[in-house]
Amino acid sequence: MRYLITGATGFIGRHLARHLVERGHHVTALVRRDGRVFGSLTVRGDLVTGEGLAAAVRGVDRVIHLAGVTKAADPRLYALVNTVGTERLLAAVAARPEPPRLVYCSSLAAAGPGRRRHEDDPPAPVSAYGRSKLGGELALREGADRAPAVVVRPPIVYGPGDREFLPRLATAVRAGLLPAVGRPGPRHYSLLHVDDLCRALLTAADSGAPGATYHVSDGVEHLWDDIGATAAEVLGRRPPRVVHIPLRLALTVARTLGGASALNPGKVAEAAHPAWTSAVGRLPFGPCVPLAEGLRTALAP
Ligand SMILES: NC(=O)c1ccc[n+]([C@@H]2O[C@H](COP(=O)([O-])OP(=O)(O)OC[C@H]3O[C@@H](n4cnc5c(N)ncnc54)[C@H](OP(=O)(O)O)[C@@H]3O)[C@@H](O)[C@H]2O)c1
Repeated sequence: MRYLITGATGFIGRHLARHLVERGHHVTALVRRDGRVFGSLTVRGDLVTGEGLAAAVRGVDRVIHLAGVTKAADPRLYALVNTVGTERLLAAVAARPEPPRLVYCSSLAAAGPGRRRHEDDPPAPVSAYGRSKLGGELALREGADRAPAVVVRPPIVYGPGDREFLPRLATAVRAGLLPAVGRPGPRHYSLLHVDDLCRALLTAADSGAPGATYHVSDGVEHLWDDIGATAAEVLGRRPPRVVHIPLRLALTVARTLGGASALNPGKVAEAAHPAWTSAVGRLPFGPCVPLAEGLRTALAP
């Protein structure tokens, strides 16, 4: 089968390209700059300008849409890429005589915080990022009569090559202090190893119902302390102590550091909520990588 991956040069995209090539599929990668993507044909294009999208979707059977902005100096960029960019991709897909199936990698951020969030819960994002990912979902829903689209909402995704979550976790563990924004109390997170996300995206591409939204995770509600302790074991360190950072202080630091840093006002708004977990979703997919194993392969020296 012929797949187009947008965001193929990113953390998840590079893994997805490998999964597809190893399964014998042909992969076209939408890229903004010259560069190679494992086993793939590359097509230059940009979601913001729409350049290259018509050529990229030509002849493909499936589109997996990963391209997106997860942190931005200018918050308007979230909507421009994640919402408007998704609309542009939808338009290119819909212009095909037989539009290929499109799988959109949204985010639990589009659903909003809380424990065991279900696909049918009304979405309540708390950041510009979450609102922009929801905007992409809504664009696809509105265009459902023009192209078949399936939405997948992963939680925090981790694995080799992750430049966000794991480096921060490892640094915190080495310092012996695990930061938590807001009031003291337990914090719960859903997680998913990148290989499991790739399997989920391919399941969604094969058997997801057009118009459906699927939550995916490793099925465990992880406590922040347990995530820290598991990472510490892998790194041969003592379990770190959770330190609570008052919301006001975290926001001041975030405003000083600026929007494109890992600690930006939007991330603080998300981090201030003590739970970001999803209920086991409806997609017929079973995760294979437990946290300890996933952290061992990604973090072990
Ligand atoms: N990582 C997570 O924990 C996580 C969790 C839930 C959902 N997601 C979603 O998963 C997707 C991929 O995440 P990731 O962690 O792999 O992100 P990433 O490493 O930051 O990769 C983002 C990708 O999007 C591309 N891109 C950005 N703006 C573009 C534009 N205007 N036109 C075309 N391509 C553009 C980037 O291309 P360049 O290489 O040219 O910059 C890159 O290939 C995102 O949509 C994100 O919202 C991620």
